[in-house]
Amino acid sequence: MKIKNKELELLIPESDIKEKVKELAKQINKDFEGKEILAVGILKGSFIFLADLVRELEGKVCVDFMQVSSYHTEMESFGEVIFVKELTTDIKGKNVLIVDDIIDTGRTLKALVEALSLREPNILKTCVLLDKKERREVDYDADYTGFIIPDKFVVGYGLDWAEEGRTLKDIYYVKI
Ligand code: IMP
Ligand code: MG
Repeated sequence: MKIKNKELELLIPESDIKEKVKELAKQINKDFEGKEILAVGILKGSFIFLADLVRELEGKVCVDFMQVSSYHTEMESFGEVIFVKELTTDIKGKNVLIVDDIIDTGRTLKALVEALSLREPNILKTCVLLDKKERREVDYDADYTGFIIPDKFVVGYGLDWAEEGRTLKDIYYVKI
């Protein structure tokens, strides 16, 4: 398979993703037992992961979205994080779970956690499907992490390369 004329190599098949989503949901259900959850998806990359994850969560779950942007080229980001879409919910006193597709430098999640914690949620936790641990530039790890992956660009299951590849069911490396 190819996108933008670059060969893709399978990294995580759909069946492994499904299993991991259930595993993550099990931990989250245990930690949030008896509590309402507000799941906050970070657009756009998280929308497929969020959709699968929330359907495995127990009890009352509400959903909201934020969109952030960092100055970047197609494959590299340069640091500053800007909020381009805000929440529509007041999170004060709520049990918030931020859901993102991947943590890379860590700047996005760290900035989000710093900003949202000022709004006084009761609980504020983060969940990512993928973690490129070796790329971290700030001191931040998600509370729930699916797969730790090497420093290679990935697409599929919501993740894109300049808007391509998002709808693939499995996760692939782009072979540069
Ligand atoms: P961070 O702020 O560097 O941690 O970047 C996180 C964001 O960068 C994610 O939400 C993704 O949108 C994007 N990103 C980082 N690595 C990849 C990748 O390999 N494929 C697609 N998007 C990525
Ligand atoms: Mg993203």
